[in-house]
Amino acid sequence: MNKHTFLAAAVLATSAFAQTTANYPGGPVKGVTPFEQNLFDIGKAAYEHDFTIAQGLGPTFNKPSCAGCHFLPATGGSESGTANNVTHFMINNQGNFMPALEFGGPVLQLRSIAELPGGETCSIVGETLPPLPGVTTSIRHTPPVFGFGLLDAVRDEEIVEYQGKKPWKLPGVAGQVNWAIEMESLVRLQAFTFDPTRKQPAGPVRAGRFGWKSQTGTLYQFTEEPFNIELGVTTPFFPREFTPNGGPVPAGCGLASAQPNDTNSVESIKLMHFQALVGPLPRQQLTPKALAGRVIFHAIGCADCHRPHMKTTKDYYMPLQGGAAHRVEALSNKTIAPYSDLLVHDMGPGLEDGRVMGRAGPRFWRTTPLWGARFKDRFLHDGSALTLDEATERHGGEAQLSTDLYNALTPAQEEALFEFINSL
Ligand code: HEC
Ligand code: HEC
Repeated sequence: MNKHTFLAAAVLATSAFAQTTANYPGGPVKGVTPFEQNLFDIGKAAYEHDFTIAQGLGPTFNKPSCAGCHFLPATGGSESGTANNVTHFMINNQGNFMPALEFGGPVLQLRSIAELPGGETCSIVGETLPPLPGVTTSIRHTPPVFGFGLLDAVRDEEIVEYQGKKPWKLPGVAGQVNWAIEMESLVRLQAFTFDPTRKQPAGPVRAGRFGWKSQTGTLYQFTEEPFNIELGVTTPFFPREFTPNGGPVPAGCGLASAQPNDTNSVESIKLMHFQALVGPLPRQQLTPKALAGRVIFHAIGCADCHRPHMKTTKDYYMPLQGGAAHRVEALSNKTIAPYSDLLVHDMGPGLEDGRVMGRAGPRFWRTTPLWGARFKDRFLHDGSALTLDEATERHGGEAQLSTDLYNALTPAQEEALFEFINSL
């Protein structure tokens, strides 16, 4: 029995989280000011906007908008189905997996601007896997970004606290921080050498929390990077033009005059504002059955990784256009319920991919936040699980004992467990 976390859960009434969830799916976090509501509206429009060739889309890309993949059940959500799964590819060089940047990696861009009006002068086609020895792939499903300003506002110390084996965790459950380079500082400190194996933070790093392997530390970085990688728009931090297999940009394909395309990160900051201000999805009332399910959730060790609560920092600042920063009261000093420790865990050979990201080896994945799970139709990093039950069944490694306990539940207990998860 997981006494500490269970007591914490019992003490904090669920109404505490109503302070931060959105009033409706895809709406802003509760308590935004009129100024912030306006930034949210502008950001949402940018998130849904189909970028054009003149704005820097392509030459290869996956979708012209963020919402092209992040849409279920509203802008900012997960993908429905798996048609837009993203393929990471890398070269296996004697056990070292290189992200294959020089061959157009780290992901395949399946489309080219040649298929769009105005792209007729561009001769390239979407990317396929380069025929290189040792090329391997990792397939990733699109997760939701609801409530991500709150996750960005969590201090490193809060995440570190849960790291390692703890007396109240089931035997075998550990979890580690995936330290990530803080991109914004790295640009200032070019000389810094990054050691991803370190256990404590040093230099311009932050506890990773975004991405399936917690490979990224800041929400701002996980705005500009997909802008570049999925849409092909170049930005000050990510100036690389993506072409098939990394070849030169053929004449007729570089149609945007601004370089980098998003010259002063104007669009990136709008997209960031949407991601920072979009609230966690509304929760359901806890029925007696869901309350029974919550007890089971703690008793069989799900909460050892799917951590119920964490706190955000006292003062969360969001970048504004032109370099100023703005304190967001609605994201500061809040108790949130993501149901994740944001740590990476060894999940066993059944969930192994070929990709190392920082401290997260091929079997390591970030505990997926369970808030809003009832709105998803695919689960696990590759979207291969159709139900919550299937996703749970496939936990191995550190979660093996928890999975064994789960498999020993009666059908009624299992139903209660999922009624609880579907309330989050
Ligand atoms: C082609 C589909 C696709 C498009 C378009 C796309 N994304 Fe994503 N997004 C993904 C996938 C797949 C992941 C998981 C990445 C990983 O960890 O491997 C992801 C992850 C994320 C995450 C981290 C989610 C988490 O759980 O931590 C953020 C934030 C994000 N995307 C923002 C954006 C923004 C901003 C845009 C537009 C500039 C965008 N995405 C466009 C597919 C997409
Ligand atoms: C050792 C840590 C750990 C424990 C214990 C654990 N989980 Fe997970 N859980 C994870 C990780 C890591 C993932 C992501 C795995 C992946 O995508 O490959 C995950 C993913 C999930 C998902 C899929 C969510 C989604 O949106 O894709 C569900 C559902 C889930 N866990 C439920 C449970 C339940 C129920 C229990 C208790 C029986 C449990 N987990 C115990 C770490 C854990």
